[in-house]
Amino acid sequence: MSSVWSLGLLGTFVTGVVLHSIFKKKDQLPYPPGPKGAPIIGNMNQLPHLEPFKTYTEWSKTYGELIHLTALGKHIVIVNSVRTANDLLEKMSKITSDRPENTMIKLMHWDVNVGLKPYGEDWRRGRRIFHQQFNLPAIPKLHPVILRKSRELLRNLQAEPTEVIKNFEFYVASAAIYVTYGIEIMPEHDRIMDATISAIRILDDAILPGSQILDLIPPLRYLPEWFPGATFHRTAAKSRQLVKEMRELPFNVVKERMAEGTAPNSWAKELIESAANEEEEKYAEGVTSMAFSAAADTTNSTLRSFLLEMVLNPEVQARAQAELDAVIGERLPTHEDRPHLPYIDAILKEVMRMHPAIPLVTPHDTTQDIIYEGQFIPKGTSLVANTWCMGYNPEMFPEPEQFKPERYLDPALVKQEPFTFGFGRRICVGRYLGEAVMWIAVASLLSTFTVVPMKRDGKEVPIAGEYCGIMIRYPAPFECMLIPRSQAHMELIKSAPEVAV
Ligand code: HEM
Repeated sequence: MSSVWSLGLLGTFVTGVVLHSIFKKKDQLPYPPGPKGAPIIGNMNQLPHLEPFKTYTEWSKTYGELIHLTALGKHIVIVNSVRTANDLLEKMSKITSDRPENTMIKLMHWDVNVGLKPYGEDWRRGRRIFHQQFNLPAIPKLHPVILRKSRELLRNLQAEPTEVIKNFEFYVASAAIYVTYGIEIMPEHDRIMDATISAIRILDDAILPGSQILDLIPPLRYLPEWFPGATFHRTAAKSRQLVKEMRELPFNVVKERMAEGTAPNSWAKELIESAANEEEEKYAEGVTSMAFSAAADTTNSTLRSFLLEMVLNPEVQARAQAELDAVIGERLPTHEDRPHLPYIDAILKEVMRMHPAIPLVTPHDTTQDIIYEGQFIPKGTSLVANTWCMGYNPEMFPEPEQFKPERYLDPALVKQEPFTFGFGRRICVGRYLGEAVMWIAVASLLSTFTVVPMKRDGKEVPIAGEYCGIMIRYPAPFECMLIPRSQAHMELIKSAPEVAV
């Protein structure tokens, strides 16, 4: 394992030199290796639709750490190793942090999303606002809210021990919305949640492969609405309405409550208070509306994978519970316990290694030509980090198919940032919040319950362990249930005082 780390370190010194094309005869340099494509369409008909990260991992055995592909003239480089990701996406992040153009996203008004904005001043402004709220030192001030939500999760699980996934999803949504707006959502038919989820789903459907057709063939965007096949106009109009509701509904509630003097502390409230003018307030409305959409599916995917691994690995649960009993005894965990519970952290890291929520990280486009280790990567190339391939590298993670949290107790790995959060200047700006939300849920669940397969008529319901999703990968719904660890633990949940926020 450590040899791989030293290889990464060596990379620091041997990183390819970035030179502008005038200094190098770039035409004579090869692109990184990759499968040969057809004229014009390039590799388009070879690009896999199902689990492409697995195909690229397989291809990496032939082509190596970087794989070059093209699709209708667009260059794509799949980045398969931590070493090359560090070189290209971290050290060269000044010129590898753009996002690909997507006209459909703009037409849908989803370009309000910081994660999809092109590299530039507008992106920097949105990211700065996120960073001020969710950087590492800022997270402890959010602990009370998250803790309160985790206690609510335990009470809900106690009431519905066979509805684990549903209650985890409500926990994530309710924590994200409370942190952002100070609003308590309803478990069902909540109008803020309904508006937000509808806006997210229409985006998911619209950016499936093929959505960039408007960018590849620009005249298409001028087709009139009545033209057969020009359904994108209708989708875009519907999306604009949904995005408007997603932005305005919760933000207006905060403003109304502020006027009444009843608004609890929240991110939106702070931004409204500090806005110097209407434009700043409108900008804040857009940025805050992104917190839930960025947090929900990614965090839910990871927590669902955690539940799956717990059902499949009872011995891991037993070891985690032994650690919890030894360190915290008979009380419920808090975030302050985290430094003393390394195995709980290790479980979460191992889940993120084996089941990255976004196995192919959102593309980082290059804004200059790059010459890297004798290979040419032209300006405008989409660099796509394959975190699946990185996590399953047997040199770095021996027996990568095995769920072994203890590998993260190795001092060489303890400090490594999970690469599931991406890289460089575009690295997930909500990762510390995501970790705080997930960690307390995992620690609280394992200290009070044991996750077991669902039983029906005395028989265990089999778990297929299948995954689905296109951009965000998550386990297909499965059934499991919770067994209380003891009556005393159940009393702890019932008698836990409300956490003041
Ligand atoms: C398990 C939880 C999460 C995972 C796995 C995750 C993963 C990611 C990934 C892979 C990216 C793209 C990084 C890149 O381009 O290199 C990203 C970006 C982003 N994430 Fe997260 N995320 C999580 C939670 C959150 C949360 C809780 C928030 C909100 C508070 C959030 C907000 C964002 C934003 C705003 C971006 C765009 C950053 C930019 O383009 O500058 N994420 N996330």
